[in-house]
Amino acid sequence: MKFVSMLAAAAAATAFMAAAATASLAQVPAPAAPPEPPGEFAVCTACHETIASAGHSLGPNLSGVGGRKAGSLPDYEYSDAMKAADRTWDAATLQAFVLDPAKAVPGNKMDYAGTGNADTAKAIADYLLTLKN
Ligand code: HEC
Repeated sequence: MKFVSMLAAAAAATAFMAAAATASLAQVPAPAAPPEPPGEFAVCTACHETIASAGHSLGPNLSGVGGRKAGSLPDYEYSDAMKAADRTWDAATLQAFVLDPAKAVPGNKMDYAGTGNADTAKAIADYLLTLKN
């Protein structure tokens, strides 16, 4: 009797280990830590919030800006130029805007001269696309 129960226990342990191994194989990778903003992004945070619940600052909230139509948040007062910009924010349009806002959207009211550096602008654009909370 004792031998049988030991066998049962061993079988159960083996089954448990097999199940655990299967579970860990099937596990989706843990979500990556939120990406760090590029250093230059600190300038942007003077005028922009990046978490939806924080609302607007001097500039519109940037959470979910990727895929959003320019100048489209209903509770933010955009310039006519931004409302008429007629583009969706994606990697390319964001990079161009951050590089040289006055050139990308002439007449917009964002008081920021632009990074003037394509790599920095791209890094910021890529970071903006990760803002979803
Ligand atoms: C001095 C304040 C200020 C700074 C600094 C600033 N912004 Fe803005 N931003 C604004 C304002 C104001 C607007 C609204 C512009 C308009 O309506 O013409 C705006 C608009 C935007 C928009 C358009 C959002 C939408 O909903 O269509 C994006 C994207 C953006 N800013 C990104 C950035 C990034 C990235 C930086 C840093 C590289 C930055 N801003 C720096 C004030 C600022």
